[in-house]
Amino acid sequence: MEIVDSRNVLQSIVKEFRLQGVSVGFVPTMGALHEGHLSLIRRSNKENEITIVSIFVNPTQFNDQDDYKRYPRIISDDIEKLKSINCDFLFTPSKEEMYPEEDKREFDFGNTDKVMEGAHRPGHFRGVALIVSKLFEIVSPHKAYFGEKDFQQVAVIKHLTKLLDLDIEIVPCPIIREKDGLAMSSRNILLSEDQRKNVSLISKTLFESVNMMKLLNLIETKEWVMRKINENPFLKVEYFEIVDSETLESVIEWTQSQNITGCIAVHVGNIRLIDNIRFYS
Ligand code: PAJ
Repeated sequence: MEIVDSRNVLQSIVKEFRLQGVSVGFVPTMGALHEGHLSLIRRSNKENEITIVSIFVNPTQFNDQDDYKRYPRIISDDIEKLKSINCDFLFTPSKEEMYPEEDKREFDFGNTDKVMEGAHRPGHFRGVALIVSKLFEIVSPHKAYFGEKDFQQVAVIKHLTKLLDLDIEIVPCPIIREKDGLAMSSRNILLSEDQRKNVSLISKTLFESVNMMKLLNLIETKEWVMRKINENPFLKVEYFEIVDSETLESVIEWTQSQNITGCIAVHVGNIRLIDNIRFYS
C-alpha cells in the first residue's frame, strides 16, 4: 500500500491509472477504522481494479469543537488494517493541504440537509460537502462507497454529485453491527464500560419497532421508540424521525408503497450516536 499526503501527487497517480482504463474505487473516512469501514473497502476491492482510501478528520463538519478534539485518531492501527485488506492507496492529507484557504462555498441540498442531522448539527453537511467535493476532485473515482449507517449523508452526497454534475457512482453499503446489534462507529471506543452495555438498547429497540409497527400507528411507534430508550438513564434521544427514504420528508402514516426509514440520534453522556432502521423498502 502506498501512502500519499500530497493532493497533486495523488491526482497525477490517478490520472495515469484512468488514462490506462483502470477502474478506481474510493472510500472516504475519518479513520479509527472498524469493520464498517472495512466492509466498504472490501466492496470497492471487489468492484474496482484499485481502491483509494482517505483518512482526514475534517474540521469543517464538526459543529462541536470538543467533539473534533476528542475524535479518535489512531493512524498506525489504521495503516495495519488497510495493509491487511489490500488497500492500494491511502491518502492522509494535512489540514493545510485540504484547506489552504477558507472555503466559502455554500450548497443547496433541498430538504435533505434541513432535517435530522442537518437541523441538530448546523453546518455539518456543508462541511461534509466541502470535503467530499474536494476529495472527489482529487481522486476522481469511478465509484465511491458510503455506509447507510450515515443514512442522511448518503442522500446529501447523491445530491452533491448531481449538483456538481460529477460522473461518480455513489454506492450505498449496509450497516455493519456489533454482535449485540450496536451499529459500529469510531465513537464507540469513547464509551465507558457501563455506557457500552446500555447502548445496545438503541438498536434492539429499533429492531423491535419493526414488530411494533404491526400493532401501532406511525406516531405511536415513534413515541414507543423514544419512550423505551429514554427510560434508560444512560440514554437521551435527541430525535427519532420516520421519513421517506429518498426525500427525507417526515411521514405521518404507514404506507407500504413508500420507502420508509426511521432515523435516530441518541446522547450517551457527551457522546452522540446515530442509527437507523428500514420500515418499508
Ligand atoms: P466516517 O465516520 O469515518 O465514515 C466513513 C464511511 O464509513 C462513511 O461512509 C460511513 O457511513 C461508513 N460507516 C461508518 N460506520 C459504518 C457501519 N457501522 N457500517 C457501514 N458503514 C459505516 O462519514 C464520514 O467518516 C465523513 O463524514 C466523511 C464522508 C469521510 C467526510 O469527512
